[in-house]
Amino acid sequence: MAGHTHGSRSAVTCHLRCGDACFQPVPNTTETSYFRDIASSVLSRRSVVGTGLAVGALTALPVAQAAAAPRAGSGSRGPGNAGRLPFSPIAPVPATVDDVTVPAGYRWDTILRWGDPILAGAPGFDATNQTPEAQAGQFGYNNDYLDIIETNRAGTTALLVCNHEYTNEGIMFPPGTDPETVIRTAWAAHGMSVVELTRRTRGDVWTYLPGARLNRRVTLDTPFAVDGPAAGSDLLRTKSDPTGRRVLGTLNNCAGGTTPWGTVLSGEENFNQYFLAAGTDPKETRYGLSSRGDSRNWRSLDPRFDATTDDHRNEPNRFGWIVELDPSDPTSTPVKHTAMGRFKHEGATIVVNRDGHVVAYMGDDERFDYVYRFVSREKMRPGSSAKARRHNLRLLSEGDLSVARFTGDGLEDGVSDGAGEWLPLTRDGRSMVPGFTIEEVLVHTRLAADVVQPTRMDRPEDVEPNLRNGRVYVACTNNTDRGKIGKEGPTEANPRPLNKDGHVVEMIPTRGDHTADTFAWNLFLICGDEASAGRYFGGWDGPVSPISCPDNVAFDSVGNLWVSTDGQPSAITLDDGLFKVPVEGPERGHVQQFLAVPAGAETCGPVIRDREDSVFVAVQHPGEDGSWDAPQSRFPDYVPAGSGAGAGQFAGPRPSVVQVTRA
Ligand code: FEO
Ligand code: CA
Ligand code: CA
Ligand code: CA
Repeated sequence: MAGHTHGSRSAVTCHLRCGDACFQPVPNTTETSYFRDIASSVLSRRSVVGTGLAVGALTALPVAQAAAAPRAGSGSRGPGNAGRLPFSPIAPVPATVDDVTVPAGYRWDTILRWGDPILAGAPGFDATNQTPEAQAGQFGYNNDYLDIIETNRAGTTALLVCNHEYTNEGIMFPPGTDPETVIRTAWAAHGMSVVELTRRTRGDVWTYLPGARLNRRVTLDTPFAVDGPAAGSDLLRTKSDPTGRRVLGTLNNCAGGTTPWGTVLSGEENFNQYFLAAGTDPKETRYGLSSRGDSRNWRSLDPRFDATTDDHRNEPNRFGWIVELDPSDPTSTPVKHTAMGRFKHEGATIVVNRDGHVVAYMGDDERFDYVYRFVSREKMRPGSSAKARRHNLRLLSEGDLSVARFTGDGLEDGVSDGAGEWLPLTRDGRSMVPGFTIEEVLVHTRLAADVVQPTRMDRPEDVEPNLRNGRVYVACTNNTDRGKIGKEGPTEANPRPLNKDGHVVEMIPTRGDHTADTFAWNLFLICGDEASAGRYFGGWDGPVSPISCPDNVAFDSVGNLWVSTDGQPSAITLDDGLFKVPVEGPERGHVQQFLAVPAGAETCGPVIRDREDSVFVAVQHPGEDGSWDAPQSRFPDYVPAGSGAGAGQFAGPRPSVVQVTRA
């Protein structure tokens, strides 16, 4: 969750110093190989097969591992490149501004808002008359991960997939709402949404289709299957589920990733906050489970949220996973993948290695926690045949989990000494950690990882491969504890004490092989405004937009890094935003702000469709520190104060998905 537990070095521009990894051919580098596009092909094919829609026969896009790397420098496109989102950076926006700010020549539109009806028969949003039944058919709260996967060749239909991280009852419900309504509505406001979109032509603003066939809500009532080596383990069994293989719901879904076989991954992050626990065992305390938790008091209506009882002691073990959802089949059972480990998963992003194995990169978003990697046992089968798809839907069920150690200094000083290694936790279905069974490694992953001594990072959020240059970008959002008395001080990969602004690490797999045991790495960005000590921007020494608390990352079609932030108001007195940063060529490190989100909001789920001059973001928790009676944001409808709070007249904020297009 967005910190809601709420919680200049001069350098030679020498980023191509990283030894043999730099100029090797890397997988997945063509403009058309983005997994969203491959997923689109798969889903388009499925829509043909499934519905008989006359969209024509489709050939699956090539699986990308055959592509050759572009020359370094080709990824840098500055302002003035028509059709590539040319823009002049916006000026920093004060944190009091309650608006979406976009560059000159652009406009923004809202596609979906909290409470918009999705399922057939769902009522329109009425803030003063919320019910669990209504919410279960409506778009959930606090949208985070977002993707928009086109489902026909013309690009005029798509599936929007989004998750809903957490609820903020103080601004969602009128004072005096009965507690049971609040709790049960909150259960329905968590989870995920799948929504069909339509538009006239490429580049238009999307419109969502209420009641469409594939629309779906996943809530706390939705059954999930548990798979992988820990499925059925004693550690996952409860009185309600003696099999340890079936869990109701998903919680605190943060970032995610889209797979080339057309599914969406989502990370269960700060699940601890929903449970009461004894909090005396390291298996609980290492995950933040405590006797002070569960401010929402969900256990008053469902005893499984009271993990102090023998019946439900294992219930928290059933959260903290990567979940996988097939948005093309509203009857499919989503899956929790135990092979990918249990921690406070920010998300998981996929790359298909050149040998066909699927590699997932994952961050554990906690101060001093780790970066992980999963390598599938099986190889991906290209294409959209039913047989290939059945195979690929099992890829994340078996594989090897490892955790990262960063050594060397990573400074871009012309010396190649940023070295790293992947420390194995599981291999070939066996534990690699002394004293831990494989089930224990996968369920108590943080404790197992502690044994092998990985690098304690500054809250790793998105960890995402750039398919254009084969490097992996790690957003370390912040860690104000680093260097405090009694806490670990600066280290090579986390060089700044009291790191309130965060940084971005660039990992370079050895020989371009995402399954290699080693990697090189650079400190790419050390974020901040002009007052921040130790700022560094990839060697760029010109002006930059101030940037603090990198959270989600994305890439455009030519490989520029886009970073969304989750920092205000504690880290920087500016509205959070979305920033473009070239990673190659003379503009490497040139941070340019594209948009800012309204007061109190975090910028989530960036989707960059630069070939269509469109950018999408999920605006999460606008006005989060306000109240029902004193809202701090009125985004996105800006209903005039005093006009009442009836249907369509809610004066408070609504987390929403926004599309930005060229005006
Ligand atoms: Fe939910 Fe790590 O941000
Ligand atoms: Ca965050
Ligand atoms: Ca160095
Ligand atoms: Ca996040």
